[in-house]
Amino acid sequence: MTEELKSKHNKNILLVENIYTYFKTESGVVKALDGVSFDIRENESVGIVGESGCGKTVTSRSILRILPKNGETVAGQIFYKGVDLLKLPEHLMRVVRGKEIALLFQDPLSALNPVLSIREQMVDVIKLHRKVNESEAAELAINMMRQVGIPEPEQRIDDYPHQYSGGMRQRILIARALALQPDLLIADEPTTALDVTIQAQVLKIIKDMREKLGLSLMLITHNLGVVSENTDRIHIFYGGRVVESGPTREIFKDPHHPYTIALLESIPAFDRKEKQLKTIPGSVPQLINPPPGCRFHPRCEFATEICKTRPTLEKFSEDRFVACFHVEEVLKSRKSKS
Ligand SMILES: Nc1ncnc2c1ncn2[C@@H]1O[C@H](COP(=O)(O)OP(=O)(O)OP(=O)(O)O)[C@@H](O)[C@H]1O
Ligand code: SF4
Ligand SMILES: [Mg+2]
Repeated sequence: MTEELKSKHNKNILLVENIYTYFKTESGVVKALDGVSFDIRENESVGIVGESGCGKTVTSRSILRILPKNGETVAGQIFYKGVDLLKLPEHLMRVVRGKEIALLFQDPLSALNPVLSIREQMVDVIKLHRKVNESEAAELAINMMRQVGIPEPEQRIDDYPHQYSGGMRQRILIARALALQPDLLIADEPTTALDVTIQAQVLKIIKDMREKLGLSLMLITHNLGVVSENTDRIHIFYGGRVVESGPTREIFKDPHHPYTIALLESIPAFDRKEKQLKTIPGSVPQLINPPPGCRFHPRCEFATEICKTRPTLEKFSEDRFVACFHVEEVLKSRKSKS
């Protein structure tokens, strides 16, 4: 391990270094993650943001080593508390999943077994990961259900998933995940399947529980409103790479990468008047045969010849990282427009 990496471990709970995850398909190799690097610090809430297909879910699955059969992380390192998860034997990885790193999916219904009661589904998982007996596990489950706002948990624990609404099911999954006392929660679009008011309630629960339990959170979403309100820092993904990283407030106020700028302009702004949704010209890169160099160059108004080579993610200012050859020009142009 290099000195630089060692010093990073002091601050990070998770450090993803240059990972490449590929899928074999009949039409060729899909280079879903092409050198992804980012970190999550202790007790921090971090947003992973980017358009559909940019590699957000593949990143979470690569971290937990739960990729589909045709996928493989072929290079890179994923340090969790200083241990490279990609080198960990499978029996230890099973301990990491759930007990150390919990994963919350988009669709709460498919994550629950319809023919088992909530009691069975919670108690079994808790018993598997914590040294408790049946009644202690049930007590822990009920206590957690109460904490995430499920009324009368002593009775409701014997209900089945279909007897709960979508928002309540997601609360059950949060309760089950947190009953294992993980240190990192990865939430992959945890509220997309829910309607707007319920979304806000579920996000509030995640936030409250995070503060109460001192969890780190990796919040995956394409909803910029959700990240702006719920994260300390963000990593912007484009075409299987991280193109910009930094504190959420600063990136929203002063984005540096042309893709981030386009992304922020594509949503109705919070402090701007226009309500019209803009779309980013061009389409997301095709990952079997991606454009060479900067993957954004076919859509970028600042592109020059050098952009056909690969820009690396580099420190631009304190805590701000950008992968772009022309940041200075981009910023000058933004200044002249404003
Ligand atoms: N099993 C698979 N086989 C082949 N390609 C795959 C497989 N799973 C994912 N991919 C590809 O990997 C890329 C990244 O997918 P991923 O699911 O991570 O996107 P995402 O950012 O989570 O998008 P969304 O916002 O739609 O959830 C996509 O191009 C996708 O088609
Ligand atoms: S590297 Fe070039 S193409 Fe890529 S975002 Fe920067 S200016 Fe645009
Ligand atoms: Mg996804």
